[in-house]
Amino acid sequence: MKRFKIFASDNNAPVHDKVFNAMLEVNEGDAIAYGDDPYTDEALRLFKELFGSESSTYFVFNGTGANVSAISHLTRPYHAIVSSDKAHIHHDECGAPEKFSGCKLHVLPSDNGKIKPNQIKPLLHSLGFQHHSQPKVISITQATEMGAVYSLDEIKSLADFAKEHDMFLHMDGARIANAAAYLNVSLKEMVTMSGVDVLSFGGTKNGLMMGEAVVFSNPLLAIDYEYTRKQSMQLASKMRYISAQFKALLSDSLWLENARHANHMAKLLEEKIREIPEVQITQPVQINAIFAILPPAAIEKLLKEFFFYTWDASRHEVRWMTSYNTTEEDVMSFIAALKAALK
Ligand SMILES: Cc1ncc(COP(=O)(O)O)c(C=O)c1O
Repeated sequence: MKRFKIFASDNNAPVHDKVFNAMLEVNEGDAIAYGDDPYTDEALRLFKELFGSESSTYFVFNGTGANVSAISHLTRPYHAIVSSDKAHIHHDECGAPEKFSGCKLHVLPSDNGKIKPNQIKPLLHSLGFQHHSQPKVISITQATEMGAVYSLDEIKSLADFAKEHDMFLHMDGARIANAAAYLNVSLKEMVTMSGVDVLSFGGTKNGLMMGEAVVFSNPLLAIDYEYTRKQSMQLASKMRYISAQFKALLSDSLWLENARHANHMAKLLEEKIREIPEVQITQPVQINAIFAILPPAAIEKLLKEFFFYTWDASRHEVRWMTSYNTTEEDVMSFIAALKAALK
């Protein structure tokens, strides 16, 4: 079958061979369901190695489930969640965070998807006022939906702000591996040591078939999360197949290798695009995403050969993404098609 390359999302990449093989390896005989199996124990041990011995991790099916169950667990329905106006929890989860947590979502304007404590400050006037929902969770995305990476200092300042005001810091880490590769820091430094309370750890965009993890930095916050997970319909009975995937991803730093490669391919793509005057890159390229504006006729032509998303139709802005399996040849054939489409 012809290899069909898509530059729309890292979600379109296949399952990594090592991950698929790991699933096959555990596909032998019976294993106790719902995570009471040795493969899950081993995968959870690897998570403790990465995030620290105090952390506790729970596997779920998908990113929306990770975000929604993590946020619901830390809130009551009279609370409010604060995020950027670009956040996945705001745009792409069909209102699930609001439906399942019952919380109000406050979205703050941001060009690159990052938010800052001084934007949250005005919301604090609601604290203690019985007519207003009470801000409880700050949710940030690392890396953001616009491909921007929070520095450790930026994360720490949000975490300090959250603590000061009796709030929690949630991180949507659907692309946390790409962010860690960009910053060249460990996950422990970026999450546990920076004061993030709960993380949605992404696996699917980085080589898994399916599976994300909810990682609590503080064991007290994780108390009873298993009930929240079950109520959120995110408890896998055949857990061993999610655990085996994570074991493969976390072993020998495959997660980092995959993310580094995806980022590197985006840099190559950027370098080649910058040689084309008709295409304007609109965001710094920090992870595996490129946002660009180009003539609408060229978008139409290019779409006949490569699938990708128009991000902001009003200004003909598109998003191109690379993934762990993007090759240099893919990039070069994309560039050739782009140049042809611009003629
Ligand atoms: C920032 C972000 N968070 C979370 C998700 C997870 O979404 P899903 O529920 O489709 O796994 C995605 C997927 O596109 C994402 O981009």
